Amino acid sequence: MTSLLSPRCPVVIPVPAVGPVPVFGQGLGEPYARALHLGGGTLTLRPHDASPDAGRRGCEVTLDVLGWCSETSVLERNLLQTLQGPVLDIGCGPGRMLSAARSLGLSALGIDTSAEAVNLACGRGARALEQSVFAPVPQSGNWRSALLLDGNIGIGGNVARLLRRCRQLITPLGTLLVEVDPDDDIDAAYQAVLEDSEGNRSEPFAWARTGRRGLEARATAAGWALAPTEHLQGRTFCRLSPVPDRARPVRSSVKIVTAAPMVRTAQKTTRFPA
Ligand SMILES: C[S@@+](CC[C@H](N)C(=O)[O-])C[C@H]1O[C@@H](n2cnc3c(N)ncnc32)[C@H](O)[C@@H]1O
Repeated sequence: MTSLLSPRCPVVIPVPAVGPVPVFGQGLGEPYARALHLGGGTLTLRPHDASPDAGRRGCEVTLDVLGWCSETSVLERNLLQTLQGPVLDIGCGPGRMLSAARSLGLSALGIDTSAEAVNLACGRGARALEQSVFAPVPQSGNWRSALLLDGNIGIGGNVARLLRRCRQLITPLGTLLVEVDPDDDIDAAYQAVLEDSEGNRSEPFAWARTGRRGLEARATAAGWALAPTEHLQGRTFCRLSPVPDRARPVRSSVKIVTAAPMVRTAQKTTRFPA
């Protein structure tokens, strides 16, 4: 922590040191990287103990890493076939949707904050960048389709901000395909931690769990029109299309917070003890 000394008032004002913003499953015991490295396992996402939201309904969730590392299901391929390229997969994980897009002849790029996820995606022959969705994204404003398939619009822990950011990335005639939480009514934003079955825990990070109603409540203000919800095999998908700028109220744009993206190759990176 550094400090500022105000010339008028000789009081030391603490200024928090600026460091990287903790993201999904990273830091400390690196449970997400470990699980991707193993190609499976169960992770538990739960509120950080110190969070005022700790213990709120439904905030704890069990995640199946094998599913993310596997091939796409028929349902997911069918959904992809309804989209036009180029496709941006936001939070692409190990690249399941990217390799399916490629096999369907759709041009696609993945972005993800996890180096391990990006390496796995590249190892599958996909194109992926290790970067946050809130950092400058190549071809911003020109993506014909974008995917947000983390299952609950969790990325960044602020649904409205994420929707506004996605609105900047997509072409005026584009489609944003979002998988929301299957519980229509859940709408929680909180500091979460990820933990594996061995007790390896991540740093706390901002996350959200939001269902259909939470998305509907924020989509219009973020510049999106919503098509009817699709309930498919126990999962809930929403398609959003941009409302033209002139047809909506002016508001300030999302601040870009992180550095330029790093292009990853298929080399393996291990950032935790072997
Ligand atoms: C629940 S996983 C979903 C993986 C993938 N979409 C799938 O369906 O297989 C969420 C992914 O979002 C990524 N992520 C988290 N915060 C992000 C951010 N700010 N920008 C880009 N990706 C992010 C995580 O690293 C993780 O790979």
